Order: sequence, then C-alpha cells, then structure tokens
Amino acid sequence: MPDLTGRVALVTGGTRGIGLATVRALVEAGATVVLTGRDEARAKEAASAAGAAAGLALDVTDAKAVSSLVRAVAKEHGKLDVVVANAGIMEDALLGMIKEELVDTTLSTNVAGTLHTVQAAARAMMRKKTGAIVVLASIVGEHGSAGQTVYAASKAAVANIARSAAKELGRSGIRVNAVAPGVIETDLTAGLSEDAKADNAGKTPLGRLGRPEEVANAIRFLVSDEASFITGQVLGIDGGLVL
Ligand SMILES: NC(=O)c1ccc[n+]([C@@H]2O[C@H](COP(=O)([O-])OP(=O)(O)OC[C@H]3O[C@@H](n4cnc5c(N)ncnc54)[C@H](OP(=O)(O)O)[C@@H]3O)[C@@H](O)[C@H]2O)c1
Repeated sequence: MPDLTGRVALVTGGTRGIGLATVRALVEAGATVVLTGRDEARAKEAASAAGAAAGLALDVTDAKAVSSLVRAVAKEHGKLDVVVANAGIMEDALLGMIKEELVDTTLSTNVAGTLHTVQAAARAMMRKKTGAIVVLASIVGEHGSAGQTVYAASKAAVANIARSAAKELGRSGIRVNAVAPGVIETDLTAGLSEDAKADNAGKTPLGRLGRPEEVANAIRFLVSDEASFITGQVLGIDGGLVL
C-alpha cells in the first residue's frame, strides 16, 4: 500500500459508494481526509464511520461553494495534497425521452461540478507546486452506451477535463488523472435489473461486476508518489469489459 502519511486529501461525494471507499483507502494509507456530500448530517456520519477528519456539506454544482470549501480546507490544514472529484449522478434515458432537466442536472453535476472542483484544487495546490487530482470518468464516456447519451457525454467531458488540466498543470507539479470504472456495485447501479447485471458480468473477462474498493485502490495509487510520472491518463477499472 502506498504511504500517504502527512497528506491532506479532499473527496467530493464521499458519503457512499466509490467516494466512501476512497475515503477509507486514503485514511488507511495515513492521509488526513475531508469528505463532502450534499447533506451535512450524512456527510458527518460517513466521516465518523470512515475515520475522516471532517464531513462537510457541499453541492458541487455551486461554483462559489466549491471554491470557498476548498480554500477553507487548505487553510485549516495548511495545504491540500490530494483532491478526488468523485461526486456524480447517472440517470438513463433513451434519446427520444431525454428531458431538458436531465441534461441540466447531469451536466451541472458531472461536468461543471468536476470542473469547479479541479479549478479550486488547482488554485489551492498551485502555491506549493505539488498535488494530485483524480476525476471520475467512465467506460461509458470512452465508448458510449445506448440509453446513456447524456451520462456518456458528461463522462467524456470529465476525461477531457483530466487530459487538459494535466497539460496545463504539469509544470506546476500537479498531476491530474481519471479513472474509468466499468459496472461497480453501488447505489448508482443498484437500479440495474438482475438480468442487466448478469449480462454485464457475463461480458466481463473477469466474470463479475466491480467493487467500490477496487476503484478506490486504483485512485489511491494514482494520488500517491508511486504514480509520480503518471498524468493525463484515463485508467479503465472494468475487469476487462472494454478491450
Ligand atoms: N458505480 C459505477 O458503476 C460507476 C461507473 C463509472 C463511473 N462512476 C462514477 O463514480 C462516481 C461515484 O459513483 P458511485 O457509484 O459511488 O455513486 P453513488 O453511490 O450514487 O454516490 C454518489 C456520490 O456523489 C454525491 N453527489 C451526487 N450529486 C452531488 C452533488 N450535486 N454535489 C455533491 N455531491 C454529490 C453523493 O452524495 P450525497 O447523495 O450524500 O449528496 C454520493 O456521495 C460518480 O461520478 C459516477 O459517475 C460510477
């Protein structure tokens, strides 16, 4: 396991699923971790269960709130070494059924929310000329998926936030990578039918769906010094589903 002792980390959407598993993985490696979620009570509860330093309320669609929270965390802990822009939503709709509201909520959460978080993280890390950021893309963003046009578009954008930010921030000592999970068993995919889950597992060379901890372990690697020459990458974590 990489050693993150002394590192200060922020994980958005850390109340459950991949975000919560990431918080646990970073805490296990010795980092001081702050997590966020939309509801303060839920964030506090998750933080205390995972051994995080704090659980704070944050809606990532609110650019000003993201900026002031990131600044406050960096100020309180004297620095910010790691940011995982994990908060995201997924709602399926066939092309003919896509409503304006779905486009707005998906793009404002997944694209603008990730952008706000990366921007605030970069500002906080710039002074120390060091830092590592991971954003949550998806295999769907790289390869498309019927019934998921809006989500796929949002996740393609997220991957390109990582690539572009990596190009821009590399000279400042800040690395930016994305992970692209396949189907991971969390609340986000809980609505999939058993048939759909079995179908996905069947198409996956490793023969099963993924666990949040398996994504968290890859994120922990990417933010650690063990990945010190890796930036701008989109790492598939999908059991070989997309090859
Ligand atoms: N599960 C998968 O198969 C899969 C595959 C590829 C990519 N991903 C991506 O991985 C990330 C995590 O997914 P997950 O499966 O762990 O999802 P999840 O279990 O549904 O958790 C989503 C997290 O995001 C937070 N969140 C949602 N909207 C937010 C907002 N506007 N502001 C702040 N926080 C918000 C939620 O917090 P609260 O509800 O407490 O506010 C929650 O902590 C997402 O970006 C998702 O798109 C997941």
